[in-house]
Amino acid sequence: MGKDVIVACDFASAEQTFAFLDRFTGRKPFVKIGMELFYAEGPAIVREIKKRGHKIFLDLKLHDIPNTVKKAMAVLRDLDVDICNLHAAGTVRMMEAALEGLTRPDGTRPLLIAVTQLTSTDQEALENDLWIVKPMDEVVMHYALNARKAGLDGVVCSPLEAEKVHAACGKDFLTVTPGVRFADGDKGDQKRVMTPAEAKKAGSDYIVVGRPITAAEDPVAAYERCIREFAD
Ligand code: C5P
Repeated sequence: MGKDVIVACDFASAEQTFAFLDRFTGRKPFVKIGMELFYAEGPAIVREIKKRGHKIFLDLKLHDIPNTVKKAMAVLRDLDVDICNLHAAGTVRMMEAALEGLTRPDGTRPLLIAVTQLTSTDQEALENDLWIVKPMDEVVMHYALNARKAGLDGVVCSPLEAEKVHAACGKDFLTVTPGVRFADGDKGDQKRVMTPAEAKKAGSDYIVVGRPITAAEDPVAAYERCIREFAD
């Protein structure tokens, strides 16, 4: 898959989501469905968005014992999404079990990527809450290498880390990066941000963009601007 823009559909209902997606009459955006929408509407929302012709990144961040994650992934694989994810903190064995569960009888499967450390976790929380006494970027690279060792396809990371992840895990190992803002836009609660053009330069394979598109006066124009800056 080439470079693409994934639109984070962080809405609380199917109604709001479809009101938003209905505006896109040309190119159909790659859509990210997160916990909020999935828990509100269930698997039906995934099937409906897929039926409308969108690619889907199902962002449910699984983290449990290997057997439970394997069985959950075996359910998700039948939703026919394009990308799923989990927490690398669940261990290499959990990630291997996830891949097994996600693989269909014919050998095909959605891409599987890992969250290394959430961007909401800072160095202080890493040390004091999680008792991981190592620099954050070393922890992120170690978790990315674990994900590669387990056979995963990539990680979710900051665009600022994309280059390092590619250097450590190979250029084909995908970097899916949120924290993207237009140069003239509002940062919201994101702190370490890059523009779509900078993320492209940094080597991100996919950017995940929420509010700069969903909260824009003209979401379609904002999406097309992202595509122009990042993917064209
Ligand atoms: O609105 P905004 O562009 O900040 O949305 C970014 C999306 O990416 C949200 O759905 C957010 O939950 C997600 N995300 C993130 N940082 C991470 C992982 C996911 O912002 N480390």
